[in-house]
Amino acid sequence: MSQPPETSDDPFHGRRPTSHERMSGRPWDASYEDGPAPWDMGGPQPAVVRLASRGAFEGPVLDAGCGTGENALHLASLGLEVVGVDVAGTALEIARAKAADRGIDVELLTADAFALQDLGRRFGTVLDCGLFHTCDEEERPRYAASVASVTEQGGTLFVLCFSDAGPGSGPHPVSQDSLRATFGRRSDWEVATIARERIHTRFDDAGASAWLATITRV
Ligand SMILES: C[S@@+](CC[C@H](N)C(=O)[O-])C[C@H]1O[C@@H](n2cnc3c(N)ncnc32)[C@H](O)[C@@H]1O
Repeated sequence: MSQPPETSDDPFHGRRPTSHERMSGRPWDASYEDGPAPWDMGGPQPAVVRLASRGAFEGPVLDAGCGTGENALHLASLGLEVVGVDVAGTALEIARAKAADRGIDVELLTADAFALQDLGRRFGTVLDCGLFHTCDEEERPRYAASVASVTEQGGTLFVLCFSDAGPGSGPHPVSQDSLRATFGRRSDWEVATIARERIHTRFDDAGASAWLATITRV
């Protein structure tokens, strides 16, 4: 599909709006304009902290859809080389301000997760915290191919997404079957494990039911 022309009043800056943006009628950036978004809990996700504490991240690390950067900043604070990308300029500005305040060295770039090859970079680990579950069926394979294009062979993609298995499923529940279909035999990926997790939000201390998928680039 052709992309709309880039103009100064184009909120999508020339990229194709995502299914979430088409459905909500708002660009992702709007979620960050009126104060913290529901998922922006002011710290890294506990699941990401646990993964990092057991040395699961091999650099360089890409945080795809990094939002205001709490996960990227946490990983960078541990000494990892980290690049966070997002399409929401407001989120990236907030993330850059936090990095400067905390004296953390991290790269925060505007980039479309469906065109990551444009970065011209390769990563040992990719973190997806809350992006995959916003993709519709048509977007999922395109996303998987895009992430594969920047991941070293043998590298790892961690997908933390809302799960369809309760209690307390989030707004975009994903099934294990869907994860396995997207990152299965016909992709450049192999699903290593899918574990039960929680995704914490600003409004729910207990968190919502989630999957943590560990996926290997083959
Ligand atoms: C639910 S939020 C999660 C943000 C962050 N990972 C966190 O845990 O706070 C999803 C993020 O993905 C970003 N996003 C959505 N579609 C994207 C795309 N095609 N390319 C890059 N970022 C995207 C949104 O702007 C948003 O910041």
